[in-house]
Amino acid sequence: MTSPTVNVSNLPPSHPLADGRTATSSLVSALRGDRPARTPVWFMRQAGRSLPEYREVRQGVGMLESCLRPDLAAEITLQPVRRHDVDAAIFFSDIVVPLKLAGVDVEITAGVGPVMDRPYRTAQDVDELVARDLDDDALAPIVQAVARTVADLGTTPLIGFGGAPFTLAAYLVEGRPSRDHLAARTLMHADPETWRRLTEWTADLTGRFLRTQVLAGASAVQLFDSWAGSLSLADYTAHVAPSSTRALRHVTDLGVPGIHFGTGTGHLLPAMRDVLRDAGIGHPTVGVDYRTPLDEATALLGGDVPVQGNIDPALLAAPWPALEAHVRDVVARGAAAPGHVVNLGHGVPPTTDPAVLTRIVELVHSL
Ligand code: CP3
Repeated sequence: MTSPTVNVSNLPPSHPLADGRTATSSLVSALRGDRPARTPVWFMRQAGRSLPEYREVRQGVGMLESCLRPDLAAEITLQPVRRHDVDAAIFFSDIVVPLKLAGVDVEITAGVGPVMDRPYRTAQDVDELVARDLDDDALAPIVQAVARTVADLGTTPLIGFGGAPFTLAAYLVEGRPSRDHLAARTLMHADPETWRRLTEWTADLTGRFLRTQVLAGASAVQLFDSWAGSLSLADYTAHVAPSSTRALRHVTDLGVPGIHFGTGTGHLLPAMRDVLRDAGIGHPTVGVDYRTPLDEATALLGGDVPVQGNIDPALLAAPWPALEAHVRDVVARGAAAPGHVVNLGHGVPPTTDPAVLTRIVELVHSL
């Protein structure tokens, strides 16, 4: 199914999607609902600790510092493209970078994740947050890093990304990573008004982060709502979907395809697609984790949106024959959708042998 060409006239004329460099790439074609000759494949967390060249350049440099040094962020973004021949780069950054740029005291602790100076969960805490703005000057390192990256990528598209308002709010309300996001899920019911103000603020922060990446050269965006799977459909629809829609509306007029991903979201897939549609994203794609086979996901979605996924990261460490059979199965099931971008069902584990990722890319391209 070919979707109508979306208007990209609001992009700068030298943007890779506007000047034609990435417009016919396999990634953009699949996200537009086509079946390119070569099935596109990339991996969430393809940049990072699985790569020796990443560990090398990160020596002595903090995680957030590396995101804010344009030379380093661009180099790390390019590393997996050079090594694996993947069909897309994902910008090396983190979902908490816009919080940091807005002046929130956040660090990324190795092996733990984002840690705030304190939890933000009362009306007063949220007053303090919403008083903070993210100005254009603060976003300059992102603009520079994206510009450097796309200059080197040529015809390979860059995916820009941001954390969904719920996932960001879950870190803020808990103050650190948590297993079931209890405090955040309590707040949306205990004080819905404070919750709304908090998630509208995180939505605009992520929206500005996404827009900055697209204007600087990203050809698609992915909204990561990693923890959305902890929500019931009713809570997702009432307390989370509106702010995710609000975040994506920041890029609607730019005409780039959008991917919406979360884990444990088998029960939320149509609602997550509707967020993309309600935001007016011309080419919506739903990212599916490894728990729901892609043919089932496509049936749940009504058969008319492309899907992304969903190789089980656990199989990356299994013997090749088991992994190969699984990859072939993922590709076969993905054929049920109008477009398929092969990916993992979640991020690359740091212990992954990078040679295995390269081999998956070769296999997918050969099918
Ligand atoms: O290659 C890529 O995917 C691009 C870069 C990227 C990172 N984080 C770099 C990173 C992306 C897209 C993210 C998104 C992100 N960050 C999400 C959504 C995706 C998901 O995994 O669900 C979330 C929830 C975060 C928050 C976060 N940042 C966590 C949970 C962690 C892991 C902490 C740990 O050490 O295990 C981070 C740190 C982080 N972000 C690393 C990388 C490469 C590892 C830090 C390091 O290498 O020192």
